[in-house]
Amino acid sequence: MKQKITITALMTLFVTISITCFFVGCSADHTVEPAEQQKASIDTQKNKEITIRNVTKETISYTIRQDNYGAEWVNRTIEVGAIDRFPGNIAMEIEFQYHGMATSYRLDPGTPYSFRYNENEELELYEGSHGRADAPDLAPFVPTPLAVVEKMLEMAELDKDDMLYDLGCGDGRIVIAAARDYGARAVGIDLDPQRIKESKANAKLAGVEKLVEFRQQDITKADFSEATVVTMYLLFESNEFLLPLLEKQLKPGVYVISHNYSMAGWEDKKVGFVSLKAEDGKEHDIYVYRR
Ligand SMILES: C[S@@+](CC[C@H](N)C(=O)[O-])C[C@H]1O[C@@H](n2cnc3c(N)ncnc32)[C@H](O)[C@@H]1O
Repeated sequence: MKQKITITALMTLFVTISITCFFVGCSADHTVEPAEQQKASIDTQKNKEITIRNVTKETISYTIRQDNYGAEWVNRTIEVGAIDRFPGNIAMEIEFQYHGMATSYRLDPGTPYSFRYNENEELELYEGSHGRADAPDLAPFVPTPLAVVEKMLEMAELDKDDMLYDLGCGDGRIVIAAARDYGARAVGIDLDPQRIKESKANAKLAGVEKLVEFRQQDITKADFSEATVVTMYLLFESNEFLLPLLEKQLKPGVYVISHNYSMAGWEDKKVGFVSLKAEDGKEHDIYVYRR
């Protein structure tokens, strides 16, 4: 689900790696220096800035320049957990090295990016979900296919007495299906106001407004202790990061269903697993745990 960024993955030693999204960029005449860490609630898209977050366990060096003919490269170093900001509605080019291999990408204005490790533990730059400094970026928005939503709820043995929380609810599809198909009450939490707006509109269309609630909130600051079922489609490292919070808030016996990513540290709590091919033609994993 990590959204690898696009266009040019030029490697000095080898070839291009896979392309998953496409971006359109534009240019303007601005300086390349990142702004100081700005107000906590800054919104990447509204400010048309590029943000680069370091979600790895090491300090990273990279070079960056405006995507203009003749623009100068600037060397940058980003500490673990830090965010660099490049305001000014301008596309940029970035280059970084890992184990002697150089990779370069074009970055689009108004887009958050995160340095993360890929499945081979190599450094990569991915599209993120937001550039806010006061909240972790737990995963970009990628909706769970409907066949997977259906299976996740079936594996949770959901019924009308349940209270489901979807942590990072996206367009609200899991919350809405829980209410529509099982009569359960359900809450969706997402930091992105656009997702919350979509979720509310979708709930209205499905006629389940009375059973559901959507909260624009950071998951790490949310109270979901009343949940009897928790669903998540985040990332492996985000599940790991949230584990102490889940352990603190959830009552014993609560189901935790995670799409595609296992919960490191909860091996003894795993009660189910399936892999299925969904309408997108891809194989999806569902991990079921009981707190
Ligand atoms: C992969 S999507 C999953 C959407 C939905 N649960 C589904 O399965 O279709 C992850 C969602 O997490 C949200 N998100 C990322 N970091 C977050 C945070 N710190 N607090 C709340 N939501 C966050 C993103 O905005 C995005 O909508």
